[in-house]
Amino acid sequence: MTLSFRKTLFETLYKNKYLYRFASTVPFAGQWRDWQRLVLPRLRGHDVLELGCGLGDLLADMLAAGYNCRAVEHSPQMVAAARETLQRRKVGVNTTVIQGSAQGLPFSDASFDTVVSTFPTEYIYESDTIAEVARVLRPGGQLIVIEGANLLPIGFLQPLLVLIQALVYGPPAVFGPRKQRKLEEELARSRDKMAREPGVVRIDRDTGTGTTTDDVPDAWFGQHIPLEHNGLRRRSERVRSRRWEVYITFGEKS
Ligand SMILES: C[S@@+](CC[C@H](N)C(=O)[O-])C[C@H]1O[C@@H](n2cnc3c(N)ncnc32)[C@H](O)[C@@H]1O
Repeated sequence: MTLSFRKTLFETLYKNKYLYRFASTVPFAGQWRDWQRLVLPRLRGHDVLELGCGLGDLLADMLAAGYNCRAVEHSPQMVAAARETLQRRKVGVNTTVIQGSAQGLPFSDASFDTVVSTFPTEYIYESDTIAEVARVLRPGGQLIVIEGANLLPIGFLQPLLVLIQALVYGPPAVFGPRKQRKLEEELARSRDKMAREPGVVRIDRDTGTGTTTDDVPDAWFGQHIPLEHNGLRRRSERVRSRRWEVYITFGEKS
């Protein structure tokens, strides 16, 4: 599929809540919501801004968990859908979701402890966006980006879904992050570094949820998010379950 066709496809998705729900559920074996929820235990502080909240499911989760949240979403149709989600789940108010652009945030400096962005489009790679994030974050705050996730080609159905994703998103987006050799090399390096410098790299095995979280120094993902250029310190985590891998990039404001 060509780039322009993909762009048109995604723009169509963001104009229709039913299509978007379908597209974020079926090809991902219903795991999308689990991937979004990986944000929850990583939130810092009380005041949270979500960029590009889509249907507003994660926003509702964060509000229900007691965080004070705002969201900026570009698509008017998604703003309406997110407001409906908040109403249905009886959290937030109408002004929780603002129609606007991540490249120009309508908030004063140092307003938030955490800024969240899950499965962002190109806006996350723009310096204007990250400069705005750095501006609205308080010192000690952080940006959390779930840039992508992959189903692992296990079992009967998942290899088929992986193939469909490769057709829709393009092979580099789907197969690029799974360069096993590079990945295993990076994890081996992390373990080695941890043995030599305790506390520098954390390998956290969360057996309760069946996931493994690895800090990945020099990660191959998130590299195009211009964090350092805007004064944010980079950290990367890979969360892995039996069925999937999720790639999380943090930008910490000192
Ligand atoms: C792939 S969707 C992800 C939605 C949601 N975060 C999720 O996890 O399902 C990307 C969302 O970002 C929104 N978006 C695109 N450009 C944006 C921008 N410049 N500022 C804010 N939101 C934007 C789109 O309308 C869409 O709802």
